[in-house]
Amino acid sequence: MNTIRSLQLMQYGGPDTVRIADLPAPVAGPAQVLVRVHAAGVNALDWKLREGYVKDAFPLPLPAVLGIELAGVVEQVGSDVSLFKVGDRVMGPLGGLGAYADLVAVDADKLAVLPEGLSMVQAAALPVAAVSAWQSLHLAGPLKAGQRILIHGAAGAVGGFAVQFAHQAGAHVSATALGSHADYVHGLGADHVIDYQTSQFEALVSDIDLVLDYVGGDTLARSWSVLAEDGVIVSTASPAILASTPAGRRGLWFMNQPDAARLADIARQVAAGRLQSQVAAVVPFEDLPAAIERSRTLPQMGKTVVDFLR
Ligand SMILES: NC(=O)c1ccc[n+]([C@@H]2O[C@H](COP(=O)([O-])OP(=O)(O)OC[C@H]3O[C@@H](n4cnc5c(N)ncnc54)[C@H](OP(=O)(O)O)[C@@H]3O)[C@@H](O)[C@H]2O)c1
Repeated sequence: MNTIRSLQLMQYGGPDTVRIADLPAPVAGPAQVLVRVHAAGVNALDWKLREGYVKDAFPLPLPAVLGIELAGVVEQVGSDVSLFKVGDRVMGPLGGLGAYADLVAVDADKLAVLPEGLSMVQAAALPVAAVSAWQSLHLAGPLKAGQRILIHGAAGAVGGFAVQFAHQAGAHVSATALGSHADYVHGLGADHVIDYQTSQFEALVSDIDLVLDYVGGDTLARSWSVLAEDGVIVSTASPAILASTPAGRRGLWFMNQPDAARLADIARQVAAGRLQSQVAAVVPFEDLPAAIERSRTLPQMGKTVVDFLR
């Protein structure tokens, strides 16, 4: 039997509850392609799943293979798939779990072809973070030039793209980040960067039309006071926003939706140098359990990517 490496969550808990283990190689279903994974993005969802924080929203039969996005080469094509052929370089979100494995069967409609000049590592950083940034920025309605936007977690994987998209749209962008990340966030297009460790953002900004909350918790709770009267908060981090939005205010919970066309467009912009994609660290497969833990505990600018070929 052909076996492959995978990273599995054995039970909810700390770093030692994830383990590298062999699995039988999968085959592509009729609407799927089988991808030989070259790189996969590490997401905050990995440690949230591991800890069991989101087990009600994402109930998992354990053990479960973690990982939600990948880049690799098509090795087999399902009978109903005409969009891809063996040998294509593809990237995408799974719309579920299982990307931390050498071979993954993926729904073909979630995948996009890598543009010329984009590496597998660069590609694996895009499907969740960049598309979530775009979708969350536009969730509350069309953007207007001059709109005042506050982005929490601006140095993170999602935040870094959101700052750039908001700046491109002509918004006035305020952003919160660690002071040591301020130059990076300014460089992405933020007009005003607030060090969340030394300053209270609510003392420094007001009349905000749109808050993008990529942090949650207390940061979300304190953000209602900075909103303009008809302002809105979109949170990717706290589903509690649905129950905690004060009467008369507008708060939206965001859930990423795979969008292959948007992903392809963003990837072309990155390959052409019009959009910056910050890869904070590239780690080998064996380092994944530790990398997931570091994404929970250490400050980071941008995205960690696991390189399966290292
Ligand atoms: N619902 C969905 O569909 C969806 C999709 C994608 C992501 N998400 C969620 O969205 C959030 C962001 O994702 P991500 O991939 O960008 O995570 P990330 O790369 O870990 O970024 C989070 C950023 O938040 C910053 N931060 C921490 N505490 C902060 C504070 N008090 N004020 C301002 N910034 C603070 C960190 O900055 P420093 O390093 O500067 O401390 C880090 O850069 C996560 O909770 C993730 O689970 C949800």
